[in-house]
Amino acid sequence: MENRKKLWTPDSWKEKPAKHLPVYKNTKKLEETLNTIEKFPPLVFAGESRKLERSLAEVSKGKAFLLQGGDCAESFADFNPNHIRDSFKVLLQMSIVLTFGASCPVVKVGRMAGQFAKPRSQEYEKKDSKTFQSYKGDIINDIKFDEESREPNPDRLVQAYNQSAAKLNLLRAFAQGGFANLKRIHQWNLSFIGDSPASKKFKEIADRINECLDFMDACGINEKSVRQFKETSFYTSHEALLLPYEQSLTRIDSTTGKWYDVSAHMLWIGERTRQPDGAHVEFMKGISNPIGIKIGPTISKDELLKLLDILNPENNAGRITLICRMGADNISKVLPSIIREVAKSGQQVVWSCDPMHGNIEKANNGYKTRSLKNIISEIKQFFQIHRSEGTYPGGIHLEMTGQNVTECIGGVQEITEKDLSSRYHTYCDPRLNASQSLELAFLLSDILKEERNLLLKASINI
Ligand code: PEP
Ligand code: CO
Repeated sequence: MENRKKLWTPDSWKEKPAKHLPVYKNTKKLEETLNTIEKFPPLVFAGESRKLERSLAEVSKGKAFLLQGGDCAESFADFNPNHIRDSFKVLLQMSIVLTFGASCPVVKVGRMAGQFAKPRSQEYEKKDSKTFQSYKGDIINDIKFDEESREPNPDRLVQAYNQSAAKLNLLRAFAQGGFANLKRIHQWNLSFIGDSPASKKFKEIADRINECLDFMDACGINEKSVRQFKETSFYTSHEALLLPYEQSLTRIDSTTGKWYDVSAHMLWIGERTRQPDGAHVEFMKGISNPIGIKIGPTISKDELLKLLDILNPENNAGRITLICRMGADNISKVLPSIIREVAKSGQQVVWSCDPMHGNIEKANNGYKTRSLKNIISEIKQFFQIHRSEGTYPGGIHLEMTGQNVTECIGGVQEITEKDLSSRYHTYCDPRLNASQSLELAFLLSDILKEERNLLLKASINI
């Protein structure tokens, strides 16, 4: 009897149960819009996604570190060059702190230029005596609280595509057009964190890097001979939640003949949509981009092994990043056995820590927030657990911004519950501000340095 596997197609997800997809009233308009986007140019090239996959393969082997960060939800209103520049600057600063402090190459991936769709725990939002659909991200509906704004609107897909394209264009210019030149490192400090301890420490690093550059220049090695001195690689990523949109940007790569989702270099599956027999996993199975899987405290070993089997049957290093978001109270109970099972299976993965999504709390004044104390606790436990298990803690996944917001509690600015109302701008989850992000980078750099020294010692002893 013929034993043919059913062929994957960009729309085969439609045959599976799908969670968190909006229902559009005007289906004809939706179809027309998707047909239009299908003809739009790709936002990224497949070759770039492959380059990222190779870098992530290095991470999985303990030779580099993944820094992934950006907004929880990008908004159309924040489409502003200064915001993009400031988030990019903070990510660059963090990556320099890690590279310099821990002598470790850093793979930089933004939650940017496409992070517009959100899964929500409640389908409806109730305020005063009114109930409307929840806000699901700017690519789907409007955050304004009225019936019309909250109705999913296909026109938003095109606006999301256009904003992603323009943002990517600017990010590419920042990364490759001179802004990321190491000689300009002093200019990356943001004025509002000018005299914080983290900023002072960053200035010291910048001085030392400048000294090194001057010395190398005197030896004849400079930006003219070494490209890496004047430009950097920067990649984009978002949650592949809104499948009709992702499908419309899924194309065959002419070089390899494989399917790539060209909406971003890397895509991830959220904690709420990672059912092995669900639509989102079906879609991700067929695209060749590097992919992330969020794993929370309820994941079972069987479920995870099944997911790895479906999503990475050839066990390619760099294909899968497991983004652990367990929460400071749960991580030590859940992660060790998960790591052991994955190690036993022989699957090569990048282990990344998302210390944000398991640590959401409600402040007494009603604001959704996170405390730096819990975020740091989860990060420290993540590294400690990997050390005990003999595996490599390869990355960090943060919700952060270059703006001086007051959304997360703690840090050297000592943001308290009562400060939250002052600059609480997020459209979804609370983000670390620039100062808190840089503080975390210094902490990470110290931990990573220790980790890498141990790795080095172990390899010398072999
Ligand atoms: C997110 O990354 O914004 C998110 C919704 O995460 P998770 O799927 O882990 O809840
Ligand atoms: Co979030």
